[in-house]
Formats: sequence, structure tokens, C-alpha cells
Amino acid sequence: MKVTKKMGVLVAASCMMLFAAACGNSASTSTAPTTNAAATTAPAPAAGKKITLGFAQVGAESGWRTANTKSVQDSAKEAGFDLKFSDAQQKQENQIKAIRTYIQQKVDVIAFSPVVESGWDTVLKEAKDAKIPVILTDRAVDSKDTSLYATFIGSDFVEEGKKAGKWLADKYKDAKEDVNIVELQGTTGSAPANDRKAGFAEEIKGNPHLKVIASQTGDFTRAKGKEVMQAFLKAHKDIKVLYAHNDDMALGAIQAIEAAGLKPGQDITIISVDAVKDGMTAASEGKINFIVECNPLLGPQLMQAVNDVVAGKSIEKRIVTKEGVFTSEDAKKVLADRQY
Ligand code: AHR
Repeated sequence: MKVTKKMGVLVAASCMMLFAAACGNSASTSTAPTTNAAATTAPAPAAGKKITLGFAQVGAESGWRTANTKSVQDSAKEAGFDLKFSDAQQKQENQIKAIRTYIQQKVDVIAFSPVVESGWDTVLKEAKDAKIPVILTDRAVDSKDTSLYATFIGSDFVEEGKKAGKWLADKYKDAKEDVNIVELQGTTGSAPANDRKAGFAEEIKGNPHLKVIASQTGDFTRAKGKEVMQAFLKAHKDIKVLYAHNDDMALGAIQAIEAAGLKPGQDITIISVDAVKDGMTAASEGKINFIVECNPLLGPQLMQAVNDVVAGKSIEKRIVTKEGVFTSEDAKKVLADRQY
């Protein structure tokens, strides 16, 4: 009987692999080399029973997040999983509550995008004790004990920050005067805010003329991006560059820049991250000068990983998403085909 159950799961997993390979994903992705085998495997669900996945989402703060949620929901449906979905409204305590509910409900696998990096050990330990594997998607945790999760699927945020910084450093390599930069950070304590800041700083530090004169959180939202940019413009008359950790904050800031009678993309050079449709539209209009892509379509890779842990297969500890960059000219060319 036990052998039959396992066989059923393995057949389902193989079908899923074939399905994923046949459908593909519009965004190109790659896997990084294994550093650690998965520490947790789920007990196989009973034969004929759907795999239950509990997914604790960050919130609905940006166009990126909306695309990510849709990707997870659509892929779970295609994979035939029973998806339990919760929206934490950007609050860690809500995510912890949701994860505890999934543990009580004895789901097969839990996945989540941690709002912030720290403070997850206790709840992750509870999931481990309940023998429920956890998959991190999009954002990392800073837990020392990496056996608390099976894998982390998502972007390399440091690399994204570096791409932004490198473009700026190249643009101003011959600068003879100071170039004042303001930075709109993502949610305080989140992996993308920490890493995009660090990667950018690393690339511009070689040029003493590139000066970050103000850096504040805009919480990844358009409203906050606008509000903080208004304050930056009031406090500093000589802003040359805005580096926004996502498109939504850049779009909010563009409203503030235009309201101040300035031309975004000309009077102030704008760099952002994500490359969602609204951001790419602004880039194609010349209002954003450079966008670093962050791919939200993580659903197919997540469902594959869920199948693998349920089937007891070893899984890559880190699955990195491949991403590109877009200038205004590039954005014009690809905008019509942009899915999200
Ligand atoms: O974690 C990914 C980031 O979260 C995206 O860049 C941002 O738009 C989102 O809110």
C-alpha cells in the first residue's frame, strides 16, 4: 500500500515536469548549483488526494506583486493543487499567523515571500517539527539554520542593485562635478531593499562624484514614493538622479517631479527595478531612463519545487531567476509584448 502511494506521487510529479517543460515560462529562468540538499521532505499525500499548498503572500503593494500573485494562483490551478492563499498586507505578524494556520490545517507544503528578512526562526521551526516543508519564494530570510526551508526561489537582489549602479557609474564616468542622487528604498528590513541598496552602493563607490544625498523608504508603493519624493524635492534643489527600488515608487515620484515643474528622465535621471508594464510604459516615454528587470512569474518554478519535495526528491537549495535590463529605447521595442 505504501509503495503504491509513493508511486502515484512520483507519476504525478513526472507528469508535472513534462507539463512544465511543455508550457515553459515567458520569462527565462535558470537554476544555480546545489549548495545544500533539501532538509525537509513532505510525507506523501494519500493516493488520489490533491497536494495542498499554503501560500502566505506579502500583500498587494505593487504591480510586481499583483503579477506574482496571479502567477502563483494560475500555476497552482494548472498543477491541480489545492491552494490556500493569504495576503499579509505587508505585515510580518499576519504572515506568521497565516503560516501557523497552515500548520494547523496540515497542508502538504508551505510557501511564502517573507515581508522582512529577520524573525522567522520560531515559526519555521514549528513547521519543521510538524514535518511540513517550507519553500521561500521571491524574498529570503536571514535564518542561520538553512534546514528550516527546502529551497529559496527568486531573484538575486544584490545583482539587481549592481546593474543599476553600474549603468549610472558608466553614464557619469567622466563627471567633473558632483552628481546628487536620491534613493527611494523598498520596505525597511526586506531583502530587496537591503540588497538593492548594497549592490548599488558597491558599484558607485569608485566615483567620488556620485553622492547619495538622501535615502528613505517608500515602502514599495506609488503613494509613498510620491510623498517621499515631494519631501526630497523640497529639501534639495539640486537632485540629478533618482534611484527607486521599484517601478511603483518611481511612478509615484514622477508625479511629484512633474508637479514641481521638472521633466522626469531629463531634469532628473531615473533608474528603477521591476520592469512591470506601467514602468516600461514610462521608460518608453523617456520618463524612466533605465530599468533593471525583476521577474515575478515564479509560479511554475514553485509548483515544480512543491512536486519535488512531496515526491521526496532532492532539490536545489537556491533557484535563481534570470533577468535583463532595459533602457528607454529597449522599452519601446518590447512594450507591446510585455505580459505584466
Ligand atoms: O520582492 C520583490 C519586490 O517586492 C518588487 O521589486 C517590488 O515591486 C515588490 O513589492
